[in-house]
Parts: sequence; C-alpha cells; structure tokens
Amino acid sequence: MRRILEREIMDDEEQAIAYARADFSSSNQTFVDMLVENYSVRLKNVLDIGCGPADVPIRLVRARPTISVTAVDASDAMIQLARKAVSDAGLTKKIEVLKERVPALAQKNRNYDAIISKDLLHHLPDAMVFWKEVKSLAKEETVIYVMDLFRPPTKQEARDIVESVSAAEAPILKQDFYNSLLAAFTVDEIEDQLHEAGLSLEVAEVSERHLLAKGLITGAQ
Ligand SMILES: C[S@@+](CC[C@H](N)C(=O)[O-])C[C@H]1O[C@@H](n2cnc3c(N)ncnc32)[C@H](O)[C@@H]1O
Repeated sequence: MRRILEREIMDDEEQAIAYARADFSSSNQTFVDMLVENYSVRLKNVLDIGCGPADVPIRLVRARPTISVTAVDASDAMIQLARKAVSDAGLTKKIEVLKERVPALAQKNRNYDAIISKDLLHHLPDAMVFWKEVKSLAKEETVIYVMDLFRPPTKQEARDIVESVSAAEAPILKQDFYNSLLAAFTVDEIEDQLHEAGLSLEVAEVSERHLLAKGLITGAQ
C-alpha cells in the first residue's frame, strides 16, 4: 500500500483534546522504559520533538528525576495541553515546553544528550526534513531515539489494527489513528532515509504497530 499523507500539525483543538484524553499509556511507557533501559547513564538533557500533550516527557522525568526535557511541538493546541499537563504534574522546573516547528528548531546552540521523538515522523510530508534536523542538532555521542507507527500492507489491516487497539476511543481519534497508519513509513523506507541523511541508526519493528530507530551519533557520521 502506498503512503497517504495526513495533516501535519495537530492544531485542531478538538483533535488535540481527543488525543490528550486518549490512553496511550502502554506505548508511551514502553517507549520510556526502553529508552531508560538502553541509555540511562547518558540521559540528562533531552529534547523531545513533536511532544504533543507531553505525556512522554512527564513519564521520562518521573522514571528518572535527574533528567530535564525540552519539549517542542508546532501546534498551539498541543502546547497549551502540554503546559497544563506539566504544570499539573508539578514538573515545570524539569520540563520546558516550547512552540517550535521542524525544520528550523531554535535549539542549535543547546547540548542535548538525547533527541527523542514518538509518533511525529508519519505526520511529515518529507521525513528527510526531520532526519536532517536531528543530524544538525546532534553532537558526538548524542542518543537518537525515534519511535513511530509503521504502515501496514493494506487498508484492511490498518482498519483491523484501529479496531483491536482503540475500539472504545472517540470516533475522531479512531479516524486519526487510521490516517496515521496510512501515512506511516515502513522499516525499509526509514532505513533508506537514514542512509540518505548519513545517520547510522538501528531500525526494527518493536511491537505489532511501532518501529524504533535508535543509536548513538559518532564522529564518523
Ligand atoms: C501524534 S502526535 C505525538 C505526540 C507525542 N509525541 C506522543 O507520542 O504522545 C504528533 C505531534 O507532532 C506534532 N508535529 C507535527 N509536525 C510537526 C513539526 N513539523 N514540528 C513540530 N511538531 C510537529 C503535531 O502537532 C503533534 O502534536
């Protein structure tokens, strides 16, 4: 099945609220657990690109209170939800929430130990924009940790995934999820993107709907 683009920025308020209310605890916690398990000692200053309502940064700081996160998203609606969630969690000193858009994040002079992103990549018409940005922000030994949906082979399989994972969710959220699966990349496509960007990361399917690209930036890249 060919990729079908979805709307890039989640700036519709109803859509953002439905997303923030949905239960992504399982995949978000798995993402955080794997990140901490793989790279714990390296994590202090983390950049989260496409943070949405900031559930991942909150879980990350709760898992490792020594970590600070800069969380960026291009959607006003998401930024408002993220700031409220961070404030409600009492973590405003640990998580900075900024409205910024890939490309051209205003983070060039910041030193991040890790650049993370979850479920952003499939929103982008051109994923190379993201990988080039990551490469320009990364320094020697920066951890790159990017999880995203992968595109199923058929629309029917995408429908089946939506029903098995989110049958009870709001219709707007189910439609978004379906659109996201159709807009997602495959492991092969992401490997090609990384090759073109000159980034040497490991890519693998890590669940029935998510893939993960991870690794450390080295001087050779
Ligand atoms: C599906 S949400 C994922 C949110 C969060 N990472 C999570 O996993 O819960 C994708 C987010 O990426 C944001 N986004 C899309 N394109 C972006 C861009 N070019 N720059 C920054 N954020 C972007 C959207 O506004 C949306 O909030």
